[in-house]
Amino acid sequence: MLKNKYGYFDAKKREFVITDPRTPRPWFNYMWNDRYAGLISHTGGGFSYLDSPRDNRLTRMRYNSLPWDRPGRYVMVKDTESGEYWSLSWAPTLNVNYDLYECHHGMGYTRIITEYKGIRGEITYFVPRDETGEIWKISLTNLSERPRNLEIYAFTELLMGNALNDLINQPNDKHFTDIHFDKESQSLVATRRYWVLNKKVSVIQPNIDWKYILQFASTLDVSGFDASLDTFIGKWRSEANPLSVETGEMHHTEITAGDPVAALQSKVKLEPGNTLDFSILMKVSEKESAKLSDINSWKSQTFIEGKLSALQQYWQDYFSVLQVETPDEKVNTMLNTWNQYQAAVTFDMARNSGYYHGGLLFGTGMRDQFQDILGMVMVEPERVRKRLLNALQFQFNDGSTLHNFFKLAGTGERTRHSDTPLWIPFGLIKYFSETGDASIFEETVPYHDEGEGTVCEHMVRAMDYAISETTERGLPRIMNGDWNDTLDHIGPKGKGETIWGAFFLGYILKEAVSFFDFRKETVQVKKYSQAYKTLTKTINDLAWTGTWYLRAFRDNGQPVGTPEDDQGQIFLNAQTWSVISGMATPERGNTALKSCLDQLETPYGMQICRPAYHRIDDTVGLISRCVPGKKENGAVFNHASAWFVLAALMNGQIEDAYRIYQKMLPVNSGTDIDRYETEPYVFSEYVTSPEHPTQGQASHSWLTGSAVWMLYIGYGYLLGIRPVPGGLLIDPRIPADWDKVNITRKFRGKTLHIRIHNPDRVNMGVKSMTVNGQSHDSQVLDPEKYDGRELDVEVRLSDE
Ligand code: GLC
Repeated sequence: MLKNKYGYFDAKKREFVITDPRTPRPWFNYMWNDRYAGLISHTGGGFSYLDSPRDNRLTRMRYNSLPWDRPGRYVMVKDTESGEYWSLSWAPTLNVNYDLYECHHGMGYTRIITEYKGIRGEITYFVPRDETGEIWKISLTNLSERPRNLEIYAFTELLMGNALNDLINQPNDKHFTDIHFDKESQSLVATRRYWVLNKKVSVIQPNIDWKYILQFASTLDVSGFDASLDTFIGKWRSEANPLSVETGEMHHTEITAGDPVAALQSKVKLEPGNTLDFSILMKVSEKESAKLSDINSWKSQTFIEGKLSALQQYWQDYFSVLQVETPDEKVNTMLNTWNQYQAAVTFDMARNSGYYHGGLLFGTGMRDQFQDILGMVMVEPERVRKRLLNALQFQFNDGSTLHNFFKLAGTGERTRHSDTPLWIPFGLIKYFSETGDASIFEETVPYHDEGEGTVCEHMVRAMDYAISETTERGLPRIMNGDWNDTLDHIGPKGKGETIWGAFFLGYILKEAVSFFDFRKETVQVKKYSQAYKTLTKTINDLAWTGTWYLRAFRDNGQPVGTPEDDQGQIFLNAQTWSVISGMATPERGNTALKSCLDQLETPYGMQICRPAYHRIDDTVGLISRCVPGKKENGAVFNHASAWFVLAALMNGQIEDAYRIYQKMLPVNSGTDIDRYETEPYVFSEYVTSPEHPTQGQASHSWLTGSAVWMLYIGYGYLLGIRPVPGGLLIDPRIPADWDKVNITRKFRGKTLHIRIHNPDRVNMGVKSMTVNGQSHDSQVLDPEKYDGRELDVEVRLSDE
């Protein structure tokens, strides 16, 4: 069993179980559907929102403050005999010495189990797949031998509206809250009479209503309630010791101004050995059409059980699309569960709503959106299709794009990052490779400024724009940065050039050529092949140092990333993409990757560059202002490190690739968990490199491109089952000591049972392949050519 000192993986239940709540940081999970989402920590912390974490936040989270991870969704139990009270989620009553604490972070739910003074509590937080609301399902068991009189307090701090405004203008914002207790539905009904929704936070506002109501209810009889946070908590107190809980007296406050809380009290008697099941419900409805009594239907046990089992069924179906069995338990745990799950989270949360991404700034990044599909596209291609079509509205007529966009505001920022438009063809071709759905290219989508075009035109414009934004000698201008946001001062005058960007453009051109070739569009094939060829020559003429490729040229023509530099000498991305793009000669590719291994390998994966910048260099940018060893300034930036794994696999360096892949798995890079700090079940954006005293410390967990890339590279290149326009390409590149790999993969309407045999213990080379017992002489398998829904695929590797 995989474990560390704070918990373990339960592979069968697909849970990470935390057994000691004093983790080095709050460890989170997500509960969400298409519209309603919440973060939930192992202490019950986290916030909820509808549609947009910036513009439509429902509950509060306090940033940058101590204690960590407050407030949250709390249920407290009070023993009326002793007057003692405690929380069913550990926080906020941290000082209670529980006899048992377990937090089960599962797929779309979190269950926290506690035992204290003979009362066992189990609280399961989840968001139904198809409702705008959340359920906290609770069981209380009396383990003691005497009857117990208990008071139950459920509460959460409300926000309702623009979360950024709540931070910067709360004394004014609190004049618009409105909460009353509805007797008929026995629920607190909360709303706000004003919504700050003017695309950005500014003084000028459209003067509109928050168009929702939020109801908070219990399936138990309610004996008291409060809507005023001040009254419920009491002056000079905190959520750890609310006055109302301490005195047992709720004040029945209904507010039309002030800080809102939704707090309910119930009183129960529990006989020895008995269990009481009940739930706390939070439901959001459109004000105009809301019927308050609708929440009554949520109160039945059948409804609640039904929603929970539908959620479990959803994830069971989700995972049935890809399951692998390799000799490496860690790879299995990640690929079968957590890596797929994290990829699903990034698809919906982008880099926006997390503990490290407060949901106030980023919206959805264009480049992130087109990468984040790589997991979800296998399972819910229709959702991905919609998402791609939606994102294309943020492309301009000339092919360039906004850098990010906001769901409710419908706009974003134009930052002029050079790589962003090129992720459009990237995502579209990956979508097509998975689904074979050519119809998407015929859809028409408006441009953000004027006019409209088919999806195919959008894609072509993105590439033509990137080609046009090259300097006289033919290298892409870096503009205000490329994938690496912190290389933002290399080309302020418009002359600086990006070498990584040149390889990335090359890669996209290569992909476009095979895409258009598949579609038999010879004009495009010719055009982009020519561009690829010219660019390949240009890069190789200008950017090779003898041991590796440069990273960029500044406005004044000076190179970045040379062996002579004493900081920022070698950059990982420029080497890896020289191979991924196919633009390095085999000899240069080998040398470049060898330089990476010599210079950049750490115990946690590959450093993004080295030596990190110690002096500020304003001709490079923000990277040099960041402390050495963290973030883009020399950390093991997992997204970039993943691309090393990809490059090494493509280059036939399988054992190197596998070693780095393993090092990067959070169960390995987080072996020293007190140093590592973040969740061991998901990738973090980066792990601090040995260039900083806190080496080994990770940060920015969950929302990172590493999630989809590690998944895609893991199944697509390491196990080597990869969608291409013509079908599924079978090209495993596995460690030589793996004798066998089994994979189940649903693909284009069929279920493939793939067995890879490696009797000669080689790394790669498909010697033979059979499909349903018939020999198959191409490595690309088009399942649509076969009858029947199940295909048996036997693959034999050998280097003969
Ligand atoms: C962050 C951004 C991503 C960017 C990366 C490197 O992860 O979300 O868009 O490419 O940093 O700067």
